[in-house]
Amino acid sequence: MKKVITLALALSAICLWISTPNDARAEANGEKLFMQHCNVCHPSGGNVIKPQKTLHKGERTVNTVEEVVGKMRNPGPGMSTFDSNFLPDSDAKAIAEYILKTF
Ligand code: HEC
Repeated sequence: MKKVITLALALSAICLWISTPNDARAEANGEKLFMQHCNVCHPSGGNVIKPQKTLHKGERTVNTVEEVVGKMRNPGPGMSTFDSNFLPDSDAKAIAEYILKTF
């Protein structure tokens, strides 16, 4: 009986995953990756190294996914470089979308 319940739970988890729209999944992934790679220096979209260079709308100088990814690939002084070996384009785009939507 225990096995049946475990199996039923596993199946419903899989169904939930499959029925989650792609967008929502990318969004969650973008947030997770941001927390992992960017949040140390950009907590809540701020900037602990250069306080005037935030990620907030109206303050940031980049406003498209391409431009934000460009900053990861080729950042300004004080920010670590995130090249495509380290952070593939799909992950970089998910982070960029998260930033543009959130801050
Ligand atoms: C070691 C600290 C550090 C980390 C980690 C870091 N950044 Fe930055 N970031 C900075 C600094 C410092 C600047 C300002 C650079 C400059 O003067 O141009 C900056 C600037 C930026 C800008 C440009 C803001 C603007 O308006 O010009 C973007 C976009 C950005 N970071 C995104 C990210 C993303 C995305 C990540 C994670 C993948 C990340 N940063 C990780 C320190 C960091």
